[in-house]
Parts: sequence; C-alpha cells; structure tokens
Amino acid sequence: MHQQNQNNLHIPVLLSQTLHFLSPRAGESYLDLTGGYGGHASAVLEQTKSPERAVLVDRDSNAIAELKKRFMKEQGIEIRHADFYSASQQLRTEGRTFDLILADLGVSSPHLNQASRGFSLKSDGPLDMRMDQTQSLTAEIMVNTYSAEELANILKRYGEEPKAKLIASLIVEHRPLTTTYQLAEIVAKAWPGYSKVHPATRTFQALRIAVNDELELLRKSLSVWTDDLLAPGGRIVIISFHSLEDRLVKQAFTEKAGDRYDAPLRLLTKKPVVGDDTEIVFNPRARSAKLRAAVKQK
Ligand SMILES: C[S@@+](CC[C@H](N)C(=O)[O-])C[C@H]1O[C@@H](n2cnc3c(N)ncnc32)[C@H](O)[C@@H]1O
Repeated sequence: MHQQNQNNLHIPVLLSQTLHFLSPRAGESYLDLTGGYGGHASAVLEQTKSPERAVLVDRDSNAIAELKKRFMKEQGIEIRHADFYSASQQLRTEGRTFDLILADLGVSSPHLNQASRGFSLKSDGPLDMRMDQTQSLTAEIMVNTYSAEELANILKRYGEEPKAKLIASLIVEHRPLTTTYQLAEIVAKAWPGYSKVHPATRTFQALRIAVNDELELLRKSLSVWTDDLLAPGGRIVIISFHSLEDRLVKQAFTEKAGDRYDAPLRLLTKKPVVGDDTEIVFNPRARSAKLRAAVKQK
C-alpha cells in the first residue's frame, strides 16, 4: 500500500511495515517526530481515529505549512515547528506520553527536488542544505569558512569519504563556492574517471548531516523517546537512511532491550526491515530505508 498526499510531494516509505509494527488501535495517542508531508501520519490517524491525541513535529516550515493544510479538519491535532530533540524535551516537561512513536528520519522528496534548498547535486542551487530555514548555519558558510582540517573531519566522519583530506584541500583552494554544481565539480576533481554514482554524493551527505546536526540530535533524543515519551505497552518505529543513523538506533534499542527479564524494551525487529523490490522501483527513496521497531514493557 502506498499513499501520497494531494500534491504527490512525498511518498512515505515502508508504510505497510510501519503500520504493522505500530499496530495502531482506536483511541491511541501518536507522536510523529518527523511529520513531513503527513503520509505516515494520515495512515496512522485513519486507524487511531483520535487526532486530539496526536502531535506532529517537523523542523521545516514548508512541511509544517503542508501538515497544517492537510490536517486542517482533524480536530485537536497538534502541529509543532521544532527540531525533534527540543520538541521531545518540551513534551517530557509537559509530562506527555504516547502509545505510538514514529521517526522517519532524514530528508523529504521536496528537500531533494527543490534546487533552492541546495540538498541535491543533481540540480544547481545555492549551497544551503538547512532543514530548518530559520537556522543561521548553511553549507555555504561551512565550505567557505571552516578550515581544511575541520572539513576533512566532517567528510570522513559523516560521509565515510576515503579522499576526505584531498577534497577538503580542493574546497579550500577553490573557494568561495556558492552553488551545488560548483561543489560537485570540485569534488569530482578528486575522483577523475569515476563511473555510476557521482563522487560528490558522500560529500553532500556529510555536509547535510553536519549542517543539520543530524546524528547528535538523534543520539540525544533516542533515550528521551524510549525512557520518557513511550507509554508502557507503547510501540516505537524508527526509519533511517544511512548506516550511521541505523547504528545509533540499533545500539540504543539493544541496550534497553538487554537480556534482563525487566529490560524496559522488547525488540520487534531483530534485523532491520527493508523495502521490497516493488516499493524500491516505485519509490527510489526506499532503497536505503531501514526500519527498526520496539515495544515498551508494561
Ligand atoms: C523522510 S521525511 C518524513 C516524511 C513523513 N513521514 C511523511 O510521510 O510525509 C523527514 C522529515 O523529517 C524532518 N526532520 C528531519 N530531521 C528532523 C529533526 N531533527 N527534527 C524535526 N524534524 C526533522 C524533515 O524536515 C522532513 O520533513
């Protein structure tokens, strides 16, 4: 089953698997930490039928505007514009807990498809890469002001780029850089004669993770989700899109699930669940998606 919103902006990945592991029941509360364009949320709400017990979070103001439009008729639904770590801290302070928690991490299709957001090396745009348009740090600031050493660390750590040092020194040598095509061209100099995947893919991933502080926010949030926000008997599903994220989720879930009889979590997925061939053909974003799920012990 695949659902799209009215404007076909974003197709939710692993939707039937998400519903399977969340197994929403009528009346249950729902926290969607990456509401996006509401594809997952709409399918979950169809089953809980309790929008007044749902909170949708996103750090992107375009996504927030689309969520407000899409769920305008859902009485009592809460839509919060924030990064999921601050939203989670706030919800903890308010003493809220949820039966169903979903985090479908990373970027949405509009991020990649709108050249002006600067996420994609396939179209020319400003070097922006911010998910939250109100944030001051952009990729342009990073590539034009960070030292070669800092850039190399970012490329190595978040992009697992084997030629991190060389690319960082090429960036420093050719700056100022202002567009995605300029950056992609500079990176390609480090990989002459490449085939298939553009060699700047890893650099773009690394800068995007660094600009949005993605791994640190996820790392800090995981324990708030499992310890504080998930209600006893509640189910949590996390969908990640690269190995660095999946590793953090796996570690956090495994630590809490442990071998003790009184471990707070029980894993619903021993291995990550991935998309089948049909979904991958229909929705290329599903190619790298990995889903992990757990239930909180009562
Ligand atoms: C893959 S999309 C989610 C799509 C959504 N599940 C749907 O069906 O439309 C990821 C969304 O999460 C948001 N996001 C990513 N990291 C975030 C964070 N740390 N805090 C809040 N939102 C975040 C992005 O802005 C994006 O809209």
